[in-house]
Amino acid sequence: MIFFIDSANLDEIKKAEDLGFIKGVTTNPSLIAKESVSGKNSILDHYQKICKLVSGEISAEVISTKFKDIVKEGHQLAEIDKKIVVKIPIVGDGLKAISYFSKKKIKTNCTLVFSATQALLAAKSGATYVSLFMGRIDDWNKQPCSSVEIISDIKTILQNYHYSTKILAASIRSHKHIIECAKIGTDVVTASFTLLNSLIKHPLTDSGLKKFIDDYKITKS
Ligand code: E4P
Repeated sequence: MIFFIDSANLDEIKKAEDLGFIKGVTTNPSLIAKESVSGKNSILDHYQKICKLVSGEISAEVISTKFKDIVKEGHQLAEIDKKIVVKIPIVGDGLKAISYFSKKKIKTNCTLVFSATQALLAAKSGATYVSLFMGRIDDWNKQPCSSVEIISDIKTILQNYHYSTKILAASIRSHKHIIECAKIGTDVVTASFTLLNSLIKHPLTDSGLKKFIDDYKITKS
């Protein structure tokens, strides 16, 4: 299972790259806004800066929802760097655009996916990634089943029909989400730097390490 960082913060992205086990970046318009980046040119510049920091793929999201506009915006994003994956919301014209980019061999990430049927349509359209928003599903009390059940259904459906679309678990809130994804065989998990960094840590590691260092000091003296 591959880890991506879900962030548009340059410091966090650099730290994530330095950790070594995080192999790509996902962004969205809200994460970009959080960095006080506004205006088309500044946003494109910001993506360029991210591309310089990382060796893996970077999902950059379109704002448009009409086919022609998505195609234009998607091309502008894809032209920044080969690492850019064009992130497109699952609306009717979005699926059409995913199909268009798939024929042009431009990678896409179908986003704002909340159901297995939406994921099936993304795969049928040729999306490279399908982003299921686990946390937002579990936060929404109208959902008939959990995000874990949905992601497991998506895995079965994509396998049944041999789709190459990769499952990207997004909106991750806990270690439990990550473990469940690993058990199911999710291709990618994207999460905040804080959550990813916390995967390394355990209180028994800290106390065990302290004891080893203290004991080593005794043997030295
Ligand atoms: C996915 O690609 C999104 O950027 C992200 O995971 C959304 O997460 P949130 O629900 O924490 O905003």
